[in-house]
Amino acid sequence: MLNNATHHLSRILLLLQLPKKKHQTITPTTRRRRRRRRRSLTSSSSSSSASPPMQMQTPSTGEQQDDDDNNIKKSIYHYHTVTKHSYPSSYAPGPHNLDWSNQPNPFLRFLSSPSISLPHPSSPSPSPHYPLLFSSSFPSPPLPFSILSLSYLLFHSLSLSAWKSTSFSTWSLRVNPSSGNLHPTESHLISPSLPPSHPPFIAHYSPKDHSLQLRSFLPSPLVPNSLLLAFSSVLWREAWKYGERAFRYCNHDVGHAIAAAAISAASLGWDSRLLDSLSHSDLDSLLAIKATYPPPPPQFPDRPVRGRFPWIEAQHPDCVLALFPFGSDVSIDYSALRDAISRLSDLEWLGKPAPLSKDHVCWDLIYKTAEAVKKPYTPSDGFSVNPFRPSGLISKALYKDFTVWDVVRKRRSAVDMDGVHVMERDTFYQILLHCLPSGELGPEEKQGKQFALPFRVLTWDAEVHAVLFVHSVAGLPRGLYFLVRNEDHFESLKRAMRQEFEWDRPTGCPAGLPLYRLAKGDCQELAKQLSCHQEIASDGCFSLGMVARFDPVLREKGAWMYPRLFWESGVLGQVLYLEAHAVGISATGIGCYFDDAVHQILGLDGLEFQSLYHFTIGSPVLDKRIMSLPAYPGPDIDA
Ligand SMILES: Cc1cc2nc3c(=O)[nH]c(=O)nc-3n(C[C@H](O)[C@H](O)[C@H](O)COP(=O)(O)O)c2cc1C
Repeated sequence: MLNNATHHLSRILLLLQLPKKKHQTITPTTRRRRRRRRRSLTSSSSSSSASPPMQMQTPSTGEQQDDDDNNIKKSIYHYHTVTKHSYPSSYAPGPHNLDWSNQPNPFLRFLSSPSISLPHPSSPSPSPHYPLLFSSSFPSPPLPFSILSLSYLLFHSLSLSAWKSTSFSTWSLRVNPSSGNLHPTESHLISPSLPPSHPPFIAHYSPKDHSLQLRSFLPSPLVPNSLLLAFSSVLWREAWKYGERAFRYCNHDVGHAIAAAAISAASLGWDSRLLDSLSHSDLDSLLAIKATYPPPPPQFPDRPVRGRFPWIEAQHPDCVLALFPFGSDVSIDYSALRDAISRLSDLEWLGKPAPLSKDHVCWDLIYKTAEAVKKPYTPSDGFSVNPFRPSGLISKALYKDFTVWDVVRKRRSAVDMDGVHVMERDTFYQILLHCLPSGELGPEEKQGKQFALPFRVLTWDAEVHAVLFVHSVAGLPRGLYFLVRNEDHFESLKRAMRQEFEWDRPTGCPAGLPLYRLAKGDCQELAKQLSCHQEIASDGCFSLGMVARFDPVLREKGAWMYPRLFWESGVLGQVLYLEAHAVGISATGIGCYFDDAVHQILGLDGLEFQSLYHFTIGSPVLDKRIMSLPAYPGPDIDA
């Protein structure tokens, strides 16, 4: 007989079986707008469209600030709403067919820029055992900055990790994951002087051959005792396949890259922190975007347009991380740093980016949104480093005998889950303990501050929670569970979600893990339906949706937090990938899910909380038809 809780979940599940009209979550207006946008993919031979143009956003000043803020928020909400997928089969505007002849090259090359080759790390590796990295303190003394240690950093975060081949095609895979394996994220090192005689420099990282492409020498280091690592996105790479939803995926990928870098840095004894007071325009100058690419048009078209638009290949600067020896006394003076950055335009910048595609599609909404989320300088934030807290550990024995470097280079997305593996309950709790931002806390303390690895790289308190669909964990009833990653949000979450949810602590749950059971019941079919009908969401041990505090964050801080919520989701996703591999199974990020259907299941109305990313964890089924080849030396193709 069904008990009450199961009955509740069954009722909730029924919601998804209502006739289409009732649970279609897009409004007729949105649907009409989507149809119009799809129909209107027009051609253009120049960067300006024939149709009435829309104004680009300009920075706001003085009295107009509130109005401008409201407008910006509206544009973000517009983007976020239009790019929702809707159950059962309505997808955000994107291309109907893939234009293979214009697939963007996944490898950016700066032509005529001198190359700095990086030594390939050889075994035996000096990397710590995986669980040790998250334990009482950083496990190894910091390595000095050198060409070798930079090579270690990049090899274990952003390099190629394999080539795959079938009789039809061959493609590369990387240490960091990417939606559709399109890899919009580019990385740039800003290095201090290195022994024996390298002056400070800025270089672009080329994963294809694990080398640096020199962009400029610096007259002096930009910040003392630190290495900087900047990320930018080639939005077009992702938009080519996913259309308007691509801006979300690019930002997930940035989050994965941030976490990959923070973990790799930690394995070298380096701490990392976003330099997030800097403005978008500071980052633009840091990467010499204006000196490198043609400018965007003064006005964007008002609909998706096909044509040849070289400006579309420009990198969109995302963020810069400071990496420094763990525990060192780093102080960064933002105003001195901004002064130094503003003088970079006087330098000689080397290399011209090779084109990535012949023709393009301008998904105008992406570029308007990228404008609207540009961050201003926020001096009040200043630079600080959070105290380190270890992550909770039930037992080291729950992990396989892998080093950090083994795990990061083994990471692979599962394309299929076996549907039979049963996860031990302690393994499940252990994985979730490593997902907590504050690590291990005293009895009166609450989760929320970013103290633990790799979350401590982020400069804001945790905003992202997780709703879990538990399918196959020994000793744990199947059902919906909720991990509260910032306990200050607990009451608002409870108020915002279905009142019939139980909010019970599951059996055996460690005291420091804010995990709650919402409802018992089999939610395999539900998880699959919500994740665009993908079986990977139902055939793993559990899957999850990342639920972010949304509208309050944008109101409190500004539209520039929009991409950052996706970064935080990506950081959490990277941890899930690594944890899964460290316990001997696998995971997959899921960007395709039906946004409002997830909200409906949870009872969430409005924009206070939004689901931003899904994930699944389980035992992978390997496709034996795919051959695996070593990352280096790879075949001489760009794929
Ligand atoms: C943001 C993001 C969204 C993704 N969404 C999906 C998805 O919806 N379905 C899926 O099967 N894989 C998804 N993936 C997995 C990618 O396809 C995978 O990362 C890519 O093919 C590269 O493979 P690798 O992770 O093994 O390096 C996603 C990955 C990321 C980072």
